[in-house]
Amino acid sequence: MNKMDFPAQGSTELVPDADVNSPEALAPYVDNGTDLFSTDRYVSEDWARAEWERMWTRVWTLAGLAADVPEVGDYFKYDLGPESFIVTRCGTGENDIKAYYNVCQHRGNRLVMSEFGSTTSFKCMFHSWEWNLDGSLKNIQDRETFREEVVADNPPLTEVRCEIWAGFVFINMDPDAGPLEEFLGPLPDHLKAYRFQDMKIVKDLETPWPCNWKIGHDAFIEVYHVHAVHPEILPFFHDTEAQWDCYENGMTRQLLKFGEISPKFADQESLNDGLKMMLGEVDVDPADFDGEPNEIRKFVQQAKRKWAEARGIDYSAYTDNQLTDDWNYGIFPNVTFNAHPEGLLIQRFRPHPRDVQKMTYDLMVLIHPVPDDPNYSVPAYMGVEEGTDLSGEVRPERRYVEYGEEGLGPVISQDAYMMAYVQQGVQSRGYKGARYAETEQQLRHWHTELERYLNGEK
Ligand code: FES
Ligand SMILES: [Fe+2]
Repeated sequence: MNKMDFPAQGSTELVPDADVNSPEALAPYVDNGTDLFSTDRYVSEDWARAEWERMWTRVWTLAGLAADVPEVGDYFKYDLGPESFIVTRCGTGENDIKAYYNVCQHRGNRLVMSEFGSTTSFKCMFHSWEWNLDGSLKNIQDRETFREEVVADNPPLTEVRCEIWAGFVFINMDPDAGPLEEFLGPLPDHLKAYRFQDMKIVKDLETPWPCNWKIGHDAFIEVYHVHAVHPEILPFFHDTEAQWDCYENGMTRQLLKFGEISPKFADQESLNDGLKMMLGEVDVDPADFDGEPNEIRKFVQQAKRKWAEARGIDYSAYTDNQLTDDWNYGIFPNVTFNAHPEGLLIQRFRPHPRDVQKMTYDLMVLIHPVPDDPNYSVPAYMGVEEGTDLSGEVRPERRYVEYGEEGLGPVISQDAYMMAYVQQGVQSRGYKGARYAETEQQLRHWHTELERYLNGEK
């Protein structure tokens, strides 16, 4: 199927004259068929086991931020399903970051228990075996009490692949995996303008959700649910005319227009409060705007350029549309990026170590710091609380929030609320499997890729 045959509710090419190599170009449609998608993926322990063996242990996943290990000896812990990893800086070079399984080679104790830390060596709390930052063995306590054959190999820590893109540390348990850059496909190129490596973290939160990790993830690579779950954003968010692109390796994206009224919103004529807010954010008094509401998006794009220039902020690398829109990427298998010129919302969906019906949801917000500017804000839906230090000078502590507790921000809380009910519903004998709209083609693309891993095609 080419895009000409495509029904009206499918992807909209937002920049019809975009060069094929431009980040804004519409990707060729990927036909992933029309089959229903089985529900065992959300409830079956066999499925979860296969997923671990055939997918999780073979893909690159986002472990954390290189900025969290600035000095030699700094480390952070990254837990994924039943595994735990240590990511540490072992030298001063930009890429001198290594990752190890977080396990002592003596009797298997976890080496590191804290989320973040700084050390000169990794010493086990059980019998004091010790390793250097580069993973080589430093000391075996009372070594003379071991028969030499037992320790002759001076067991190092078991290393996992570790690569960095734009300040993000990814790891891969598969020693034979291809490089990260190849896995990410066109994403690094598309997202270059945002300079993620220069952003600073201002929000870091972790919360357990009572659902399979894929139920959580599914809800964030589509916007079909916006009219029902987040109707308050319809006055300034076009939820039906978006560009949906699918790429190799299960990667997806949505180019989502802010600054246009959804056709599902009743009042198409008035300059509503949402649009006024967008004008205010770029220092334009709504009273001074004499155009039509449907001209706001383009107007704000130009106003934001001037707004940035006046503050010495360099927005020259961004396209006009990037200045207003949400560039929303699904990074297979378990991360979404919502990129804006001001900042980036990262969501990560991690499987529970044992229970297929539980997951961990991680939320991080990064921003380009602008000290001493009370007018600088990040998009409201990101849930950055008022009073948050936006200077980027203080790394916020990671917060642990129970399901249903405040902290996610109003929009994501609305999504979170649904999750428990979807998990219950998909187990019903009365449910036959997922049927996807073309506005949810990202889900079909993503689940097709997952099935390739499970079928042994990957
Ligand atoms: S388990 Fe680590 S030193 Fe014994
Ligand atoms: Fe949502």
